[in-house]
Amino acid sequence: MSYPDVRPRRLRRSPAVRRLVEETRVAPAELVLPMFVKEGLAEPRPIASMPGVVQHSRESLRKAAAEAVHAGIGGIMLFGVPTAKDETGSGGTDPDGILNVAIRDVIAEVGDATVVMSDLCLDEFTSHGHCGLLAPDGTVDNDATLAAYAQMGIAQAEAGAHMVGTSGMMDGQVGVVRRALDAAGHPDTAILAYAVKYASSFYGPFREAVESSLEGDRRTYQQDPANLRESLREVRLDVAEGADLVMVKPALPYLDVLAAVRAEVDVPVAAYQISGEYSMVEAAAANGWIDRDRAVLETLTSIRRAGAQIILTYWAVEAARMLRDRY
Ligand code: PBG
Repeated sequence: MSYPDVRPRRLRRSPAVRRLVEETRVAPAELVLPMFVKEGLAEPRPIASMPGVVQHSRESLRKAAAEAVHAGIGGIMLFGVPTAKDETGSGGTDPDGILNVAIRDVIAEVGDATVVMSDLCLDEFTSHGHCGLLAPDGTVDNDATLAAYAQMGIAQAEAGAHMVGTSGMMDGQVGVVRRALDAAGHPDTAILAYAVKYASSFYGPFREAVESSLEGDRRTYQQDPANLRESLREVRLDVAEGADLVMVKPALPYLDVLAAVRAEVDVPVAAYQISGEYSMVEAAAANGWIDRDRAVLETLTSIRRAGAQIILTYWAVEAARMLRDRY
């Protein structure tokens, strides 16, 4: 007698069989590395809450960008940390602000060998740490912020960014930036819309990375983690306004959202595995509680499986190397 009749384990019995039937693969070309560059640094400086991630100097950023290209990853996303912040975040729109300077540096180093993206948001540059300009009553002024984003988008495109990442969660930001880019002669600069961005506790370590002075939270502009239908609405609006790609952020706690967004639109869908997702795994691994490399690949595979075609991850270069050894 033979029982059970059906034996799914046959397809799990050896590495060769498992590889043959593997449904989801992550390719290095789908990974994007977020990188921080700090104005005035002579040497890269470690970010304590993100072991293995640094604030780059201009020099070390160029070198790391070249290494990222060599590793075969699909893109890099640049964040600038200015030495001085002000109420209006003027360092973001200034062509000589650190982010715009860094874009020029990286383009000079890697050209078109990878996709160079830049964060289009004011929070790294404002003294209050909010993603936009404040109205006299202290609330974030949506429409005044849009005008600043338009200037910032133009400055980033002129510096050579291939793609700008509108991450501020202001209403209408994609449309305003698209029109500004077109009017300034940059119709080919693409917009990666952070269409779905939740007010998440997992951004914690990023606040250290960009030396944010934010008090309070971003709940009047970022989304409530409880909501899914609202995300689909955000995505439809951003696509209608001209988003070339849409992103869901954070990634791992929002895989259901990612799958729903994937089903909703036909533009490429990206996911951002954010700082807290990175630091959780690193912290558990440092304690010997989980196998780090397996956990890294497992999270990336899960994000890919849920529907992300592109993944922003602080492990991009390392994961690309692991994946190359594997296939
Ligand atoms: C906004 C921005 C943030 C992140 C990326 N772009 C911070 C925020 O919205 O609070 C977070 C990324 C991360 O946590 O890794 N400029």
